[in-house]
Amino acid sequence: MAVRRFSEKTLTAEVLRRIRKTRNPRLKQIMTAYIRHLHAFVREVKPTPGEWLQGIRFLTDTGHWCNDKRQEYILMSDTLGVSMLVDALNYKASGGATQSTVLGPFHREKAPEFPLGANISRHAADGEPCVVSGTVRDAKGRPVAGAGLDVWEGGADGLYDSQKGDEMNLRGVFRADRQGRFHFRCVTPSFYPVPNDGPVGRMLVATGRHPMRPPHLHFWITAKGYKPLITHLFVKGGKYLDSDAVFGVKPELIVDFRKGRGGVAAVHYDFVLMPENPKKKGK
Ligand code: BEZ
Ligand code: FE
Repeated sequence: MAVRRFSEKTLTAEVLRRIRKTRNPRLKQIMTAYIRHLHAFVREVKPTPGEWLQGIRFLTDTGHWCNDKRQEYILMSDTLGVSMLVDALNYKASGGATQSTVLGPFHREKAPEFPLGANISRHAADGEPCVVSGTVRDAKGRPVAGAGLDVWEGGADGLYDSQKGDEMNLRGVFRADRQGRFHFRCVTPSFYPVPNDGPVGRMLVATGRHPMRPPHLHFWITAKGYKPLITHLFVKGGKYLDSDAVFGVKPELIVDFRKGRGGVAAVHYDFVLMPENPKKKGK
């Protein structure tokens, strides 16, 4: 049997030939593109065996840092702009719909449900009090009655509750009223660093980057018949708006957390959801 010798010129085609029987067409498309791009990367960079091993050790280390509280691969995806790229390709806000942004690793299932008006901050040291109000509507301005608003934020110390222990704090789930209105109390968001004591932190330092995110409040808004909206409100004038470590800032999401009467910051925002299945033209 004749044995073929593969060169750097012919190897890619042979690897692609070997996966030609992949049954799932989407998997075949993904694997084909993955192999092509990975080989092109290696051709361009020409890593030495030592450098390739260093890369593999970095990825291995990244896996070792993952557990039920820490997802270092998501952090890598976030800090390399891949999470926002996936979001941009999948969530195309149209018809005045609110822009989406990155989910991040600090959302928690089963956050406490609160009545409208409640305070998600349990401790005076959490930060400066703030009142958030607004509406949830569709593109025609009709209220989305009963929309669910899952909200979460870090404290003035730059940490989320899950980075400190098991207590649920600075997070909660609200339900908009029949007019789609909501309001709750929280603290004015602070800037903070993404977790940077692991491999992703080393990558940021090695590439001359800082780990900071500008001050923001997270929202995950859901309602039957509408696309879930994962987004933030960013504090106007906040630090790092122009250099967010995870590329999540969009100008439409920057709002004034202005101090009103009684010296308490207040912000109002009207969210617009997109229908789950947009009607085709002519129907
Ligand atoms: C956050 O906003 O909570 C976040 C997003 C991406 C990476 C790290 C943190
Ligand atoms: Fe955050």
